[in-house]
Amino acid sequence: MQDKMRRIRKIILTGTLIAGFMNTPVRADNTAEATYKAKCATCHGADGKGETAAGKSMNAGSFARPAVAKMSDEDLSSAIEKGKNKMPAYGKSLKPDQIKDLVAYIRNLAK
Ligand code: HEC
Repeated sequence: MQDKMRRIRKIILTGTLIAGFMNTPVRADNTAEATYKAKCATCHGADGKGETAAGKSMNAGSFARPAVAKMSDEDLSSAIEKGKNKMPAYGKSLKPDQIKDLVAYIRNLAK
């Protein structure tokens, strides 16, 4: 009897842990980091330096270069929203709040 109770408790505990793990990626999907890695890193690179094959071929350039530092947050949002040369537009697939968070994320990468 004791053994059975212990086994049931173990099953419940394991189930709770698995459910906890499964919840994590769902929440992470909403962060700027997850969006950046899913949609932007192919060209801009995880470090924002644009040194990926696609980034080099399209001339993405590093977010750390002075020209980007001089751009206002509005300039950066507008590039994400409307696109810029070979950079695709994301105004239809991202919400204004997500774009704002991405601008902050890019500024942080450029530090
Ligand atoms: C298909 C490749 C590609 C993808 C994917 C891409 N970009 Fe770009 N991005 C570029 C290129 C190329 C430029 C440079 C445009 C120019 O000035 O000629 C650029 C420019 C920018 C700029 C303007 C600053 C600068 O460096 O010129 C921002 C901000 C930016 N991208 C953010 C993003 C964000 C955020 C995402 C993801 C939502 C993203 N990009 C996805 C290719 C890409």
